[in-house]
Amino acid sequence: MVNLTAINKTKRKYTDTDHELLFLGIFQDKKLNPSQRSLDSLIDNALSEAIECDGFTGKKDKQLNIYGNNSIKRIVLIGLGDQKKYTSDRARSLASNICRYANNINVSEFSVDGDSFGLQKNGYTQAFCEGLVLGSYEFNDYKTEDDKNNKAESVTMYGNVEKKNLDKGFALGQAVSFSRDLGNHPANILTPSYLAREAQKIAEESPKMDCHIFDLKEIKKMGMGAFYGVAQGAKEPAKMIIVEYNGGRKSQKPIALVGKGLTFDSGGISLKPSPKMDEMKFDMCGSATVMGVLQAVSELKPKINIVFAIGSTENMPGSNAQRPGDIVTAYNGKTIEVLNTDAEGRLVLADVLAYVNKEYEPVAIMDFATLTGAVLIALGNRASGVMGNDVSLMNEVKKASELSFEKVWELPLWEEYTREIKGKYADIQNIGQARLAGTITAGAFLKEFVDDTPWVHMDIAGTAWGPKEPSYQPKVGATGVAVRLVYQLLENRK
Ligand code: BES
Ligand code: MN
Ligand code: ZN
Repeated sequence: MVNLTAINKTKRKYTDTDHELLFLGIFQDKKLNPSQRSLDSLIDNALSEAIECDGFTGKKDKQLNIYGNNSIKRIVLIGLGDQKKYTSDRARSLASNICRYANNINVSEFSVDGDSFGLQKNGYTQAFCEGLVLGSYEFNDYKTEDDKNNKAESVTMYGNVEKKNLDKGFALGQAVSFSRDLGNHPANILTPSYLAREAQKIAEESPKMDCHIFDLKEIKKMGMGAFYGVAQGAKEPAKMIIVEYNGGRKSQKPIALVGKGLTFDSGGISLKPSPKMDEMKFDMCGSATVMGVLQAVSELKPKINIVFAIGSTENMPGSNAQRPGDIVTAYNGKTIEVLNTDAEGRLVLADVLAYVNKEYEPVAIMDFATLTGAVLIALGNRASGVMGNDVSLMNEVKKASELSFEKVWELPLWEEYTREIKGKYADIQNIGQARLAGTITAGAFLKEFVDDTPWVHMDIAGTAWGPKEPSYQPKVGATGVAVRLVYQLLENRK
């Protein structure tokens, strides 16, 4: 969880107030600005003397500590590097470093001079505040000894920063952290019912949201044979979670966000090998992305209609589990041969996608899933794989990716790949014929369930946990990937 509970903007000058710890930024080879100079004279030139003494030039990632007086205890001057190379993502990671530094020296309240970190520029205040929150993230829920490192509680922001952007960055940081928490909880705690309760809680507090939870009986009755086939082997009750958000005009068709919520993926009868199987608690990270956006939307209330949808179950072996070779019928009537029970995510998503597409006639659908190990081979954990059927929606995703610095890379969904999943005994099969291009054949499979609705699939198997860079990523566990990207996309739309 995050320990940081507030980022407060103040109109006062930082030279007029007391500070436990004050952070100032300076670009490489630049002089102190007027406020920094008045601070310098306030503390008998300790700042300029320290700069001189250490030969500090504002190089990237260098920092200079100055111990002031009783009212301004510590000043940390942070090198921002070349001003021309400064980006909002640099601001985001600097902010997380700052927060971590405060945590390390056990300071619970600190101050930041926003002006000196270049936060006047559009998007930078938001990014910086996201970074402050994310730098304060640690998952300690199950540690009984207090070895918490995230002690920082509140930040006071000085300078000419817009409160609206500060609040947005704070809310998005919190939403990403919520998504990380969901990912990090183990499968014996975070069940489909747990996810459903969390969605309900958020929806109940928001007058513009309606939540519907469907149980396994209903899933079966509604004709979701593919989802049912995966869920039938699990004792833990499966859920389909739908939240409708009405922030836009009544007549406006919604955008749909669909998440894979496998709270544990053992592989089923096509059992996975033991090493790292514990990581399959993260197989609900697609749904955690959707939940993170849900929380951000409930806070920030964008003027757009959205449907949030999650298919959640465990994938377990057992006497009632589906068998390789089983043939199931999906919600849209297509028949599927289940050749490998470990290719379960696409089966669950198939039904949720088809359901959302038919029930809501969305203008666009995006889905998020830890769908294939193959995407790790293709892209490592630096970027999520994206595929789709609509150039313009894909461009929206790429634009949002550039603005949020959450990297995506497009893979092709040519018709040739669809041939790979043609079934021998049914319409399609749930794995490709040749084990090649595993991420793409999974995408080609999903494509069968969205008709002509503009759709983008994001395979986050490499990015949902594992990345440790940039510094606002956690040292261990879930990243809350794509929450910021999706919110950016929604905002570009409204
Ligand atoms: N959840 C896994 C994908 C996965 C594997 C994510 C490793 C992260 C790390 C998915 O359900 C799965 O098992 N996919 C199979 C598909 C195969 C059977 C065609 C895979 O990638 O091996
Ligand atoms: Mn699997
Ligand atoms: Zn899976």
